[in-house]
Amino acid sequence: MPKPKKRRTNSQPKAMKKQTMKPRQACQHAGFEEASFILREEPPGNSEEAEVRRVEKPFCGNIRAGKNTYVYDAHTYHTKVPPEGIAKLVEYYTKPGQTVLDPFCGSGMTGVAAGNLRRKALLSDLSPAATFIARHLNTPVCADAYLQTVRKVLEDAADLEAELYHTPCRNCGTLTPLLYTVWSYGVMCPKCDREFVLWDVARDEKPSVRESKILSEFPCPHCASPLKKRRMKRTHRYPVQVGYKCCGRGLKEQTAELCEHDLAVLERIEAEGIPNFGAGHRHRRTRKSPASCSSRSPHSTSA
Ligand SMILES: C[S@@+](CC[C@H](N)C(=O)[O-])C[C@H]1O[C@@H](n2cnc3c(N)ncnc32)[C@H](O)[C@@H]1O
Ligand SMILES: [Zn+2]
Ligand SMILES: [Zn+2]
Repeated sequence: MPKPKKRRTNSQPKAMKKQTMKPRQACQHAGFEEASFILREEPPGNSEEAEVRRVEKPFCGNIRAGKNTYVYDAHTYHTKVPPEGIAKLVEYYTKPGQTVLDPFCGSGMTGVAAGNLRRKALLSDLSPAATFIARHLNTPVCADAYLQTVRKVLEDAADLEAELYHTPCRNCGTLTPLLYTVWSYGVMCPKCDREFVLWDVARDEKPSVRESKILSEFPCPHCASPLKKRRMKRTHRYPVQVGYKCCGRGLKEQTAELCEHDLAVLERIEAEGIPNFGAGHRHRRTRKSPASCSSRSPHSTSA
């Protein structure tokens, strides 16, 4: 006996009328948004053909994914999403062998998630920089050849790296690799028209650099007027702190103000540019530092 026809409700899209359809049919009929999140192919049961069933409930689990991973950190991109987070959705809505489309792919993290789960990915973006990054983060490479090339690049750049990114340990004097340099902004007080460095005046320092913040409200160090950070005009960037690990107990990270060596490196880069980077990468003139930061060499934000 033929099954009675089910009535379609307004909330039920036309393409979803059939509960059982082949994947290709489903994609042809479904609207763009629907195809990307409603259909999901179920594993074949007793029937010989794979079934595509409507997913009644959209994914509603919690998604938590850290950003401190090699792939995530391989290249920065605005509003970048960790692939481990995207993976949950890819896994829920698709099965291995299927194709995931991300037409706004940015740095291609959807492709990474899809590839890790043995799905294919179709990525595109308006920005050539995005498609360049996405393409290279998603193109399989020979791991051995890749590692060899990376080692060669690191070897070739070792002297330059030491020249640019080493600082003398404040305890033993050994030149040791810099972990980071903290830069802060100089700002002008709108009341007394004098400059100071935010780091010196508005710092809310915590045990780790990541947790530390700049307060949003604080008094001017020159005239004591109450100030709001977001209303202040920035002048230049100043290097205010370096971090490194050397001879401390358990190789604990140490922080220090920039020393003469560090300042001289920055001065040299400003004057001569970075070797092999061309003259266009030269930084700007140095100028007189504000009173609160007399030994610092500013870095022009327009550089
Ligand atoms: C939120 S970002 C995507 C970030 C990505 N999820 C990641 O993890 O890197 C949005 C992207 O959409 C792109 N975009 C904006 N308008 C677009 C358009 N009309 N066509 C294609 N791409 C567009 C932007 O260039 C940007 O890369
Ligand atoms: Zn002031
Ligand atoms: Zn040391």
